[in-house]
Amino acid sequence: MTFTVSVAADTVECGPDQSLLDAFLRGGVWMPNSCNQGTCGTCKLRVVSGSVDHRRSPENTLSQAERERGFALACQVTPCSDTVVERLDTAPAGTVHALRDLVGTVSAIEDVARDTRRVLVTLDSPLEFSAGQYVELRVPGTGQGRQYSMSNPPGESKVLEFHIRRQPGGVATDGWVFGSMSVGERVDLLGPLGDFRLDPDDEGPMVLLGGGTGLAPLKAMARQALTSAPDRAIHLYHGVREESDLYDVDLFREWECAHPGFRYVPCLSDQSWSGRSGYVTDAFVEDFDTCRGYSGYLCGPPAMVDAGVKAFKRRRMAPRRIFREKFTPAV
Ligand code: FES
Repeated sequence: MTFTVSVAADTVECGPDQSLLDAFLRGGVWMPNSCNQGTCGTCKLRVVSGSVDHRRSPENTLSQAERERGFALACQVTPCSDTVVERLDTAPAGTVHALRDLVGTVSAIEDVARDTRRVLVTLDSPLEFSAGQYVELRVPGTGQGRQYSMSNPPGESKVLEFHIRRQPGGVATDGWVFGSMSVGERVDLLGPLGDFRLDPDDEGPMVLLGGGTGLAPLKAMARQALTSAPDRAIHLYHGVREESDLYDVDLFREWECAHPGFRYVPCLSDQSWSGRSGYVTDAFVEDFDTCRGYSGYLCGPPAMVDAGVKAFKRRRMAPRRIFREKFTPAV
C-alpha cells in the first residue's frame, strides 16, 4: 500500500513506513533538509490535508503545540493517508538531485592527520550531487547510517572522497572505518542529501570557514568554484586544535600558487606555531575590515558555526549570503 504526498504542483508516492522527506527527495522534489535525523528542524513543513504519524519526532525539535497547529518534520513523519503539505522555505538555487540508494567499493584508505582518515569509495554508477552535499554510509551489521560530506566536487568519475575523524568507542569509526574497513569492501550508501551547497549563481568573492573535518564540503566547494572561475577570490580558513590535525596543506599551498585569488589560512586553537593561532573565527575577523559583497560558507561543530555567523555579520556580510552546516561527531 502506498499513499500520495503532494507539495505545490508535485505529487509522489510514499509508503506507510517511508518518511515524507525520503519520498519527495527520491521523486526529485526539493524539500528543505539538513540533518535527516530530526534534530535541526530544517525540514519543518505544514500539513495542509491528510493525516500523518510523527513517529520519533523529538519534542525539542517539534513541540506538541506545533504538532497541534499542523507542523511536522518531513524527515521523521510518515503518511497515514493521502497527504498535502506546504513548504516553509524557498528552494535554494541549483539543481535538485534525486535521492538514491547506492552501492560502491572502498578503493583507498589513508591516514591524513591525527585520528583522521581519507576514504575513497568508487560507486558502481555515477552520482549527481552538488558540491557541499553529503551521503549516508550504512555501517555494516548495525542497521545504522552515518553522514559524511563529499570532499571532492561532482563530475569526478564515480569516486567519492570522505574525511572521517575517529571517535573513541564509536561503532562507525573505531568499530568500522578505523577498525575492520578494508580496501575492496562493498558499502551501501544513500544520497545525495543536504542543502549546504555552493550557490551556482554566485561568482563573487567568498569565505569558507571550517572546523576539523568540516573542511570536507568546503574543499569540494573551493575546487568547484576554482574550476569554473580560476581567478575567483576564495579565502579558505581551517580551524583545528593542533598542527597534527591539519591535512591537505600541501594541496592548498599548490592551489595558492596556481590561483592568485585563492588564500588558505590554517589556524590552531591549542598550539602556538609559525602560523595563525587562536580561534579560526577570530582570525577571520582580524583579516577583514568588511565583507560586503562576499558569500560565506561555514561547516563544523555547532559552537564554531554560531561564532562564524556572528563574525560574518560583524564584518557586514549579508545574512542571506551566509550558508552553514553544523555537524555533531559521528560515533
Ligand atoms: Fe529534518 Fe533536520 S530535522 S532535516
